[in-house]
Amino acid sequence: MAKESVSGGSPLPIVWNEKDERFETEDKEAFLQYRFREVGPGVDPSAKKTVMDMVHTYVPRSKRGLGLAAHLCTAAFDHARRHSVLVIPTCSYISDTFLPRNAEWNTLVYKEEAKSCM
Ligand code: COA
Repeated sequence: MAKESVSGGSPLPIVWNEKDERFETEDKEAFLQYRFREVGPGVDPSAKKTVMDMVHTYVPRSKRGLGLAAHLCTAAFDHARRHSVLVIPTCSYISDTFLPRNAEWNTLVYKEEAKSCM
């Protein structure tokens, strides 16, 4: 099972837990949960691409407001960039707070192509 420290130089290491599809603190109390999804038009498998759907971020109440969720997101987005995977920010913290405050990561966000050209 892959368990890779993805922010080893940071004061608070974030671990990639591949089996559970999470980026998490070493004590596992705070985490960002993702799922790989196939997206793209139609049913042709060759037209599909895999994206990382970031579905949920959780930080225990006693540790909130210190930037820990942002730290988890940075580790997850950095991982996506290194693996050339686009991201769907389903979690409202990511779409409404993290991305507006860290606009450099918006280039990694998957955008559905226009379905028609009326
Ligand atoms: N959606 C968008 N923004 C949110 C939010 C939410 N659901 N919950 C908190 N925020 C904002 C706060 O208002 C705060 O803004 P401020 O800096 O202007 O005060 C900011 O996030 C705090 O950022 P940060 O310190 O990086 O986050 P955190 O470590 O406190 O953790 C959560 C943020 C959302 C992960 C944490 O509050 C939590 O676990 N909440 C319960 C689960 C949840 O609602 N998850 C998000 C939906 S998947």
